[in-house]
Amino acid sequence: MATWSAPGKVFLFGEHAVVYGKPGVAMAIKPRVFVTVRRSRNPSHAKSPYIDECFRAMGVRGSVYVRSQLQSSSGLGSSAAVTVATLCAINDEFDMNHTRDEIANIAFNIERKVQKGRASPTDTYVSATGGLVLITGSSKRRLPPQNLQLVVGNTLAAHSTAKMVEKVGKMRKNHPDIVNPILDAIGAVTLAALHNIGNPKELGRYMDMNNALLEALGVGHPASSRLVLAARASGAYGAKITGAGGGGCIIALCPRRARSRVAGAIEACEGKAIITTIDSEGARRENDD
Ligand code: PMV
Repeated sequence: MATWSAPGKVFLFGEHAVVYGKPGVAMAIKPRVFVTVRRSRNPSHAKSPYIDECFRAMGVRGSVYVRSQLQSSSGLGSSAAVTVATLCAINDEFDMNHTRDEIANIAFNIERKVQKGRASPTDTYVSATGGLVLITGSSKRRLPPQNLQLVVGNTLAAHSTAKMVEKVGKMRKNHPDIVNPILDAIGAVTLAALHNIGNPKELGRYMDMNNALLEALGVGHPASSRLVLAARASGAYGAKITGAGGGGCIIALCPRRARSRVAGAIEACEGKAIITTIDSEGARRENDD
């Protein structure tokens, strides 16, 4: 029996623009998915196309038990975390010797297959390696970890990454003169944020700008606007949609002392708040007990 876990992620800057080759910054967060795999003659596991594909890709059969601290379909990378943790547990239980990078690649191919070509390597890479990651096109670079205090606010409004990516794509096709400069501006905000990565106050201002640009791309939602405004009004340095938008989650960058107040303000707007920070470990083995 082998138990592995893998973290979720948030986009700090650059979602949607990364789809068009602009830089984006994602960060692994503390909540995790735990997966136990056991060799078995009568394999049993929850119905999940991601888990099915993990066993197919690794060419073995086994039983699986999943425990998650991440809500699915909220934009926090829970499917990537399940896939990475399952592959790591299979790798361990069946004494295969795949490296972490190989696991990240297999996980990306599985996400792409199950999500019918709409996945970017961001979620699977960040979940496998942890930390802060700069994504530009197909290149991924780990940045020095930063002690950023975040409150994630889940709007609990259903969210579809595929639909939002398609919406931005259509808008870009119909209004290239408007949408391309917005995507360029998001890229510029991301680069400016990278130069100020150690200055949370300044980063907060860039988050606010990034959010306004995401709104201009049409991926806002009344529930995320409510949570973003509530977070700012209760002391966050800045707040923005994270991930595809159209519902899903927001993040607020906060002074440490303001975290509970910001979380309370989010809950008062009927959002679900998670106080969290960077996960620098990525996928890790858990004790079986
Ligand atoms: O909703 P999420 O967390 O899967 O993020 C999607 C981010 C996009 O840039 C919109 C798409 C992508 O694959 O990068």
